[in-house]
Amino acid sequence: MTGSIAEEKINAIRNVADIIDIVSETVLLKKAGANHIGLCPFHSEKTPSFTVRHDKQIFHCFGCGIGGDVFSFLMKNEGISFPEAARKLARRYGIEIPDRSFSPEQDRLIREREELLAVNQIAMEYYHGILLEQTAGKKALAYLTGRGISTETIQKFRLGYAPAGWDQLVKFLGGKRLSLKSAENAGLITAKQNGYYDRFRSRIMFPIMNISNQVIAFGGRVMDDALPKYLNSPETPIFHKSRTLYGLHLAKKKCRESDSIFIVEGYMDFLALFQGGIENAAATLGTAMTSEHIRSLKGFASKAILVYDSDQAGLKAAQRSIAVMNKDLKESRILVLPAGYDPDSYIKEFGPREFQRHAEKALGVFEFLVESAVKKHGLSIEGKLRVIAELETYLVSVKDSLDLALYSKELAERIQVDQQTVLDAMRRRLQSKEGPRPAAIQAADSRMPEGALRQAVPRNRMERRIIAKMIQFPEKTIPLIESENVLNYFEDQILKSIGTGIMTCNGSGARKTAQLLGETANPEQRRLITSLAMGEEPFHAEGWCRLIRQFIESHKKHLGKALSKKIKEAEAAHDQEGLIRLLTEKQRQISEKQLKPKDASGGKRL
Ligand code: CTP
Ligand code: MN
Repeated sequence: MTGSIAEEKINAIRNVADIIDIVSETVLLKKAGANHIGLCPFHSEKTPSFTVRHDKQIFHCFGCGIGGDVFSFLMKNEGISFPEAARKLARRYGIEIPDRSFSPEQDRLIREREELLAVNQIAMEYYHGILLEQTAGKKALAYLTGRGISTETIQKFRLGYAPAGWDQLVKFLGGKRLSLKSAENAGLITAKQNGYYDRFRSRIMFPIMNISNQVIAFGGRVMDDALPKYLNSPETPIFHKSRTLYGLHLAKKKCRESDSIFIVEGYMDFLALFQGGIENAAATLGTAMTSEHIRSLKGFASKAILVYDSDQAGLKAAQRSIAVMNKDLKESRILVLPAGYDPDSYIKEFGPREFQRHAEKALGVFEFLVESAVKKHGLSIEGKLRVIAELETYLVSVKDSLDLALYSKELAERIQVDQQTVLDAMRRRLQSKEGPRPAAIQAADSRMPEGALRQAVPRNRMERRIIAKMIQFPEKTIPLIESENVLNYFEDQILKSIGTGIMTCNGSGARKTAQLLGETANPEQRRLITSLAMGEEPFHAEGWCRLIRQFIESHKKHLGKALSKKIKEAEAAHDQEGLIRLLTEKQRQISEKQLKPKDASGGKRL
């Protein structure tokens, strides 16, 4: 994570940098108790929920959940990498960092990327020139004009034409004494027995750019019914189809302004939108929406509207993407166009205004799933049960407890059943499944007036409380955690690994949290850490011991119960072998209880 900067330099920066200073450069902060608060720079809000702690050198937004230390603030806010943020801070606080030096392998990779980008750039200008200036491009130009693409759009997106013939590009590059090897690596030409051949022939060329305006690949379309309709560059070190969104390099400005984006499926669809003045848009390259796509939207848009040609396509996408979309986007909606239209033909026929108007009716991803299920099963009693059963599949994957509470409410209201019925159905489903239960359901349930799940599974909540205390009071809490091996009893693996991180990370005092964040790469973990670190309760040694004791006891009870259940099952199944093994285990549990006197806790009494 530190790139080529030495760990000790990072620590030195962490020790002197002041997060209040740095954040104040872009956010107006007001002091409120131990916190400084302001309007979050990462999502739009009217009342401040962006909170900075001077003592712990961290920030956390209670609105969008984002959080981190001074490094991650700079990275997010300025869209820079960790080493860049570190260098920036070092300069500001007068810490000297020797110039970067790359390993030979890193050097090679950098050169390789540069070569690929350079040859793509040359090919792009070559294709573009042919389309606009040469006889060979006339038919292609007429084709695009016929499809309503203006010259301005052609120039903005550097559309081009790859001429017919087998080796036009090969000859062009050869004539300029350019390396054919790098053109081959970029997938522009392929080697055959007797020389190189062009990959793209007689195709309209759509250069695919990265966010920094560099050509990383091409899509090429035939002008007739030949197959394949589109041919794309192969995956290369600079091009990964499932991460790339076509058009984002020019759309990002409007995305930022509106905080929203239309995601369509095709090059032509994107161009139709953009040309029609709907500039906050991008296209997947014919693949499903992935979490990598969504990650690439970070900082540009937190609301996405996925546009699909048909109910079926929309439904499939909604089913597949609900988990990803809900995790990283503030709002995601699905827009289905009337049968027979794609965005391109829709806009051509009805105009961009009408498209926008239609888009306002787009349903949220969850709402879309509910409506589809209602359409399918109807609202008879039987139908409602089926609808719930179908939606449970998605609900159990929702991580955020507030989302879950809202969704189950939405579903309950739509099909007119009690919300508790929905939550109960989910709980039954979860109990019938093996494995730990998602924490969100417990939390969502606890938001209900009568938390039916509360008694069933309070342990994850205890785990959270334990980790919160550990983050806030590491010195006071670690000894007992260590002597009682408390983390071993954890069920929630994320909380457990945060706990382990706290035990092993070197920082001390309030700055330990920042240090811990520095050592945590997983964004979900980082969010959890900053949100738990924001707590403001005092530390009571007695309460702490009580919490740990309760936790361990409840864990043992749980183990005991699970074991008894298994023993009953083995008895019923006449599984003698299994029974013996389980009884031995039970015996061991009992004798452990007897052997261990109440205060055998390494000197620390529980
Ligand atoms: N696609 C692809 N390879 C294909 C077909 C499609 O990579 N053989 C991708 C392209 O990115 C294309 C998108 O899937 O833009 C959507 O395909 P489609 O709807 O068939 O094309 P349109 O974009 O609508 O193009 P056109 O209107 O020119 O037919
Ligand atoms: Mn189309």
